[in-house]
Amino acid sequence: MRTRRFPAHDLGCHNAFSMRIDVITLFPDLIRSATRYSMVKRAQEDGIVQISVTDPRDFTPDRHRTVDDSPFGGGPGMVMKVEPIEKALAACREASGLNGRVLLTEPQGKPMTQADARRWANEPSLIIVCGHYGGVDQRVADHLADESVSIGDYVLTGGEIPALVIIDAVTRLLPGVLGNEESPEKDSFEEGLLGYPQYTRPEGHHGWRVPEVLLSGHHGAIQRWRRAQQLLRTRRLRPDLFARAPITAEDVRLMAETVQGDENEPG
Ligand code: ADE
Repeated sequence: MRTRRFPAHDLGCHNAFSMRIDVITLFPDLIRSATRYSMVKRAQEDGIVQISVTDPRDFTPDRHRTVDDSPFGGGPGMVMKVEPIEKALAACREASGLNGRVLLTEPQGKPMTQADARRWANEPSLIIVCGHYGGVDQRVADHLADESVSIGDYVLTGGEIPALVIIDAVTRLLPGVLGNEESPEKDSFEEGLLGYPQYTRPEGHHGWRVPEVLLSGHHGAIQRWRRAQQLLRTRRLRPDLFARAPITAEDVRLMAETVQGDENEPG
């Protein structure tokens, strides 16, 4: 069950927990439309996060509103120019009155983790610059951005989806966004392990049965089963995470028991 929250301004504390996120993008509608759903929508309505979009094209001096140019040294593709981005950044700071931490989304960035999302959620303001085309003039990363961020080792057509990933991961960590029951401390990754398998009604579907232990009502047994599943799943699917996870002697016993026992181990 989700607890209903009051808009921050109704509580007379408009800026108490509110965070401002500016997005500098050539595709403002992409960000606007995708932030109109679910938790991110609700967080905006509740005054917990304010999302504002700025188009660097609005800061170009020429008739064609040029935001990119061919690379010095030759080669294919176009490169996003530094001046419109610099002006857009200044406009965001002026509009918000805040000196937000600047994140540049690009595949060369440091791969984002849950720890980064948590760190950014503590900032009063973020400005996300979405890279595009063949890349962004390196001077943006070197002199204007605080961090370059990648969301994974694959190349997207632009930085808008990475910006939405950042917005989503950060917003759900802001106080008051998740209900008590779904507190972020219980997230997979927060404790260095993947989550456990979840089931709901019906108990059987095409003969695919929900594991008996979950129907037993035995709270302790359920907790042990879930922990064992987290451990085994992480070891199998993410050995890199498993190697770094804080594993106790009890965990080791639990895994050994579960592997030897007849418990089914779902995917
Ligand atoms: N732009 C294109 N691909 C990207 C990625 N994987 N992460 C962040 N920005 C990107």
